[in-house]
Amino acid sequence: MEEGDKIISLFSGCGGLDLGFKKAGYDIVFATDYAEFLKETYDENHETELEVEDIRELDYDSLPDCDGIIGGPPCQSWSLAGNHLRGSEDERGAVFYNYIEIIEHKKPKFFVAENVPGIISKSNIEEFKEIIEKFKEIGYDVKYKKMNASYYGVPQERKRVIIVGIREDIDFDYEFPEGSDEKMGQEVLRGMPESKPTEGEPHDLEDLELPNHEHYVGGYSSRYMSRNRVRSWDEPAYTVQANARHQKIHPKAPKMTKIEKDNWKFKEGHEDKYRRYSIREAAKLQTFPDDFNLKYDKVRDGYKMIGNAVPVNLAKAVAESIQGNLRKEKATIKEFT
Ligand SMILES: C[S@@+](CC[C@H](N)C(=O)[O-])C[C@H]1O[C@@H](n2cnc3c(N)ncnc32)[C@H](O)[C@@H]1O
Repeated sequence: MEEGDKIISLFSGCGGLDLGFKKAGYDIVFATDYAEFLKETYDENHETELEVEDIRELDYDSLPDCDGIIGGPPCQSWSLAGNHLRGSEDERGAVFYNYIEIIEHKKPKFFVAENVPGIISKSNIEEFKEIIEKFKEIGYDVKYKKMNASYYGVPQERKRVIIVGIREDIDFDYEFPEGSDEKMGQEVLRGMPESKPTEGEPHDLEDLELPNHEHYVGGYSSRYMSRNRVRSWDEPAYTVQANARHQKIHPKAPKMTKIEKDNWKFKEGHEDKYRRYSIREAAKLQTFPDDFNLKYDKVRDGYKMIGNAVPVNLAKAVAESIQGNLRKEKATIKEFT
């Protein structure tokens, strides 16, 4: 990796995207998010300290020089979940435009943005195309792709739209990484010690065999019980959620039994096997390393950090694909000089 591949991370969360870029050899020189509760976790696990600031208040001139900007503006307002199809009229959606302003101000060689598939759904696609046009207006060639993390070394079915912009004066055609032919199963969870149940208060660390290896217990809503929520060992897990209550069931339990349409139950005689993933397991399904320690006062914040993250291995695959292309471009220049 040549010197100078510096990254500004916006909407950093606990830094899944950042870690993937770091593993690919980039340096994160600045990271920011407005959620104070993330800071301890971010600072403990990354070399850069998290700047806690609302992006709308960020002083663009204070940002360091960089080669790339990465970030995942909030997805709530674009999400298909719960039919919240409000698009950028919603204030949280409008934050996307701050992201564009920062890119225009810093003019990095490239940027990467991540969002939920809802951003390119029928109801949002027109607005999405407007966003793409804006990126073009400020001088970027933009490509996007709905990627399923399970083809990129992630044991989880997680579809996300990745948007990559390359500054138009840089002469190469970005291509998304190909990924493998087969989806990854959940074998990474095998052999782990049993996790500890909690209703929301974290255990003392000494109480846990592995850090963050505690799972939320609480009622299962009728919505939760309207589908099977168990994937077997050889299948990728369902998408890791940001909400403690919505975590799916560990694969040691058999698949659920259908009673009727939208009404399922735990398999009779096996009820004791059903429990949600622990935070540590959710982190493993998001391909965070085992030494990535999460700090939180409420168990729900642990799940939230992990569930909001870009899987590290997916981020790394995207990071490497850009790096490869940049190298290609440099090699081409060399050939002709
Ligand atoms: C999808 S998460 C990003 C996850 C992160 N890229 C990762 O891989 O771990 C979006 C983040 O945007 C932050 N956020 C939302 N609105 C913001 C704002 N106005 N200013 C700064 N951060 C904001 C949230 O706190 C959240 O952590």
